[in-house]
Amino acid sequence: MKDMSSLGLRFERGKLFVLDQQLLPHKEVWIECKSPQEMVDLIRRLAVRGAPLIGVAAALELARYHERGASPAAVREAAGMLRAARPTAVNLMAAVDRMLGADDLARMAEKIFDEDVELCENMARHGELLIKDGDRILTHCNTGGLATVGIGTALGVIRKAFENGKRIHVYVDETRPLLQGARLTAWELGKLGIPFTLISDNMAGMLMAQKKIDIAFVGSDRIAANGDAANKIGTYSVAVLAHYHRVPFYVVAPYTTVDKNCPTGADIPIEERNADEVRGASGPRDCAVYNPAFDVTPRKLITALVLDTGLA
Ligand code: MRU
Repeated sequence: MKDMSSLGLRFERGKLFVLDQQLLPHKEVWIECKSPQEMVDLIRRLAVRGAPLIGVAAALELARYHERGASPAAVREAAGMLRAARPTAVNLMAAVDRMLGADDLARMAEKIFDEDVELCENMARHGELLIKDGDRILTHCNTGGLATVGIGTALGVIRKAFENGKRIHVYVDETRPLLQGARLTAWELGKLGIPFTLISDNMAGMLMAQKKIDIAFVGSDRIAANGDAANKIGTYSVAVLAHYHRVPFYVVAPYTTVDKNCPTGADIPIEERNADEVRGASGPRDCAVYNPAFDVTPRKLITALVLDTGLA
């Protein structure tokens, strides 16, 4: 397989490395993935995360495993494990299924990687037309170069507008409970020199009431056939607020996020994660906790989907 690299994933001379996103922004540590089980663990503990990225990472690991001499049966078993690592992002299942259907695993993994870069460019090209000079943009979670192998979905749109000379300002939801906004989006925007302000999730309503948000962009982990979209927990609240305050609310995603076999948002499996993520270091140890990692925004709250093929 050829060498490939992105902000969070690298394949170099036969070895696969991931940037441990749990340690960002304080430490930049690259971990070598040496087995499918290790990749499953990296995906589960969100060292590798973001819907498109986990699909590409699983594909690269399957190709690497095959290159190292794994039998077809072992590759199939690994594919089953990787497919089940996280339940909501359909990009993961789609990428693994493409690998299983391929004659040449290395070429297919390269194709999935290169395609993701191109899909990001296409979403950005369509989406940035929605942004006006001077816009103040709200975003949630992390949807950039750490969530894809390209420039990102929602964050790719924002980046393209900035690179095209639009004077924008981004409000970044910190994104409780795992702080993908505060830890990852702020890190990416800082590196790119894009002006931003970090807010806690419960401040978005007040900012909208003060007319400080012109437009909102988020990503998605799975879009149902009817247009309902699952994304990081808290996205639905942003959509409701945006609707009330008449702020345009866009969901940016590649075709690999669309699940035609899933009729509505109610059919999207929602991952529930460990209670300690919500408790944090200082929360009570003994109370009941509910920790769904994603919520579903109904299509009627979405102004439009920004897909790689254009607006829908
Ligand atoms: O749990 P995570 O951090 O993997 O969740 C990521 C998101 O919800 C993103 O918004 C989504 O994957 C789309 S971004 C490319």
